[in-house]
Formats: sequence, C-alpha cells, structure tokens
Amino acid sequence: MPNNTNSDNANSASREYFNANARKYAASEVHRHGPSLPVLLAYAAPTPQDRALDVATGTGNTAHALSPQVGKVVGLDLAEGMLAHARQRAQDDGQTNASFMVGSAEEIPFPDASFTLVTSRHAPHHFLHLDRFLAEAFRVLKGGGRLVIADQISPTPAVQLWMDKYQTMRDPSHHTQRTVEAWQELAQAAGFVWTQHTLVPYRLDFAWWTAQSGCTPETVERLRAHADALSEAEQQAAGLEYGGGELVAHHEQMMVVRLEKR
Ligand SMILES: C[S@@+](CC[C@H](N)C(=O)[O-])C[C@H]1O[C@@H](n2cnc3c(N)ncnc32)[C@H](O)[C@@H]1O
Repeated sequence: MPNNTNSDNANSASREYFNANARKYAASEVHRHGPSLPVLLAYAAPTPQDRALDVATGTGNTAHALSPQVGKVVGLDLAEGMLAHARQRAQDDGQTNASFMVGSAEEIPFPDASFTLVTSRHAPHHFLHLDRFLAEAFRVLKGGGRLVIADQISPTPAVQLWMDKYQTMRDPSHHTQRTVEAWQELAQAAGFVWTQHTLVPYRLDFAWWTAQSGCTPETVERLRAHADALSEAEQQAAGLEYGGGELVAHHEQMMVVRLEKR
C-alpha cells in the first residue's frame, strides 16, 4: 500500500467539488438509477460469498445496489460530504453489511487480496492516475476476482481532447475520458483479462448538466461558445444535440467492462 499524502494533495479538486455538490449528487436520478447500473450489476454477478469494494462510491449508489447481494461491501471515496449521504441511506435501508470510508482510488487502504469484487462507476474519468488505480484494484483483488467499471468514454482521441476541455470547464475535477482502446491497453498492462464490455448511451440535458455542477451564467456561456465553435461534423462526432439553433444536450457512451484477475 503506497503512502497517502501525495495523492491527497493532487486530488483536492475532486474532494472540493464533490463536497460542495454532494446534496445534488445524492438526489441525481442519473446517478441513482442511470442505465449503467443494472449492466454493471449483471457483469459483476454478485454472490453472498463476495467481499466487495466500491471505489469512488460517492453517495453510495453502487454499494447500496450490491449490499443485498453480497456478504459485505465497503464504499471508498475522497469526499466525506458524499460519504455522509451514503451512510445515511445505508442506515435508512437497514444495510448493516455496508460501510463507507475515506480513501483514494490510487492508494487503496487495504491489504493485498482483501476483496473478491471491485467496482467503480461514473468516476474513473476523475482519477489522475488510472494506471495506479488499476494496479491497486488488481492488488486488493483475490485471484479469480473481478473488477467491473462503468465510465464515460470518448469515441476518438480527437473527441477526447475537445471533450476534456468541455467537461473541465463545467467541473474542474474532471481529468480525462479515454477511448475504449486506451482503456484496453491500461487494463491489460495492469494484469487484467478483458472479458466483456458494452456501451450504454446517456443523454445529458444541458440545463440539468450545468445546474448539477453549480455553473455560473458565465461558465454556461463559455460552454456554449466552446460547442458553437465546432463544425457541424465535429458537433456530431462530439455527440452534441442542438434544437432551434441552441445547444440542448450532449450524448455520451458509458462503457461497462468486466476485467478478471486470473
Ligand atoms: C460522480 S461521483 C460518484 C458516482 C458513484 N460511483 C455513483 O455510482 O453514483 C464521482 C466520485 O468520485 C470520487 N473521486 C474522484 N476521484 C477520486 C479518487 N482519486 N479516489 C477516490 N474517489 C475519487 C469523488 O469524490 C466523487 O464522489
């Protein structure tokens, strides 16, 4: 287990952003019931024998869904404000096998081979060092364990460059949303076997998406200008939806993947 201090400093943007917006994330239907969740659960195939870890659990949506199906689940996150909502919901639902603690995806505070299942949903695009997270997930899994991820991806490296600027303007804790090919390289380098993946479409309404992050009117205008500067073909490639000449939403693919430690 590496030492915590470096990544704690580097991750302060995520901690600040999510502590400030925790209440909105706890209420967000996109996060509570978005369509990546049932796919992730199907890929994870949880059993009562599982000891599960949900990394970057946020307000605990994945951990709560796993709790009735596994022996034990731990939710890990940088932001105490998000974890407070996760704990309250687990308590309200009588989920006594679910616990929540502060910690970093890049320095998971558990010994080797502690879990049979690791999950992370709608979060790895925030991680500054995806390679370290994958190495840590591999380390804390027992042989035969699986890592199931759901996260937004970019269709091409060019869209990734544009999209990272767009996303970071809206939420400074966004880091990067890679292509499936880049994910495959990193997962295999960490030692995982890539067994199956699928893409789940999401439509994010522009008014909701900017309100969710507490964007100021100036930031909303900058986002519109960033989108309007693209050609029509580029706007299509980036998944932007216009209505009446105005940006109304963007579409993105959520990759769900099952990786195995064999
Ligand atoms: C969109 S939210 C969580 C979504 C949640 N997994 C769900 O399914 O609803 C992303 C979370 O990632 C956490 N996060 C970002 N970077 C992290 C890191 N390096 N280690 C642990 N948590 C991190 C944030 O604090 C935030 O709570």
